[in-house]
Amino acid sequence: MNLIFLGPPGAGKGTLAAKAVELFKIPHISTGSIFRAARDAGTPLGLKVKAIIESGKLVDDETTIALVRERLSQEDVRAGYILDGFPRTIPQAEALAGFARIDRVVNFDVPDEAVVERLTGRQICRNCGANYHRVFKKPRQEGRCDACEGEVYTRADDSEEAIRRRLQVYRDQTAPLIGFYRERGLLVDVDARPAVEQVAANFKKAMGR
Ligand code: AP5
Repeated sequence: MNLIFLGPPGAGKGTLAAKAVELFKIPHISTGSIFRAARDAGTPLGLKVKAIIESGKLVDDETTIALVRERLSQEDVRAGYILDGFPRTIPQAEALAGFARIDRVVNFDVPDEAVVERLTGRQICRNCGANYHRVFKKPRQEGRCDACEGEVYTRADDSEEAIRRRLQVYRDQTAPLIGFYRERGLLVDVDARPAVEQVAANFKKAMGR
């Protein structure tokens, strides 16, 4: 099963992907996570994208498409994958159609106010990537991950200014993908407003599970 998770920043794509990995036993491929890991490791790719990802703008299509194309050539995606955060532009979607067969595009729908509330409170474990929230999902020990005791931090692009920019970029460049995939009969809508467990139930139902 080859899936795309589509939706605005903070829709819960990463959170749901973690659950979908367990359900379908396929890897989660997040272009945002790959870019952040490259930045943290100081690789040439990381140095190139650092300022872009921290400001909330998009990395250029050529770089992003090459990255995903290479990732999808690896052995572990044979049985399927979840693409989270890719494609994000029509040229990316057109390029993807040339080297991958997508079964379903899951569109997580959530209003802007919820996005701002979720992202300004989001915290992430630097070690294992587990997701927390200052209000909705606090780690048991402040600043430390429940799972691995790694340091819990706030992403540079989770400032209110960057979140507003990401929402605008989403509207201008990514939201047109909803129509693109609906026309191709691949789109499944999931209401991402309720609590995580309910969104997970909505997702399972939409996938016929
Ligand atoms: P990326 O990492 O993909 O960021 P994003 O799309 O903005 O998505 P987020 O990770 O912010 O949100 P999410 O939907 O995964 O929500 P989450 O589950 O974490 O991209 C980062 C940057 O990389 C981009 O801005 C760009 O620069 C670059 N990039 C990446 N892909 C690219 C591409 N294809 N082309 C060009 N550039 C690219 O949840 C958010 C918070 O809400 C968490 O705290 C969570 O606990 C909480 N939460 C989740 N669900 C719920 C719920 N139902 N109720 C309450 N709280 C919830």
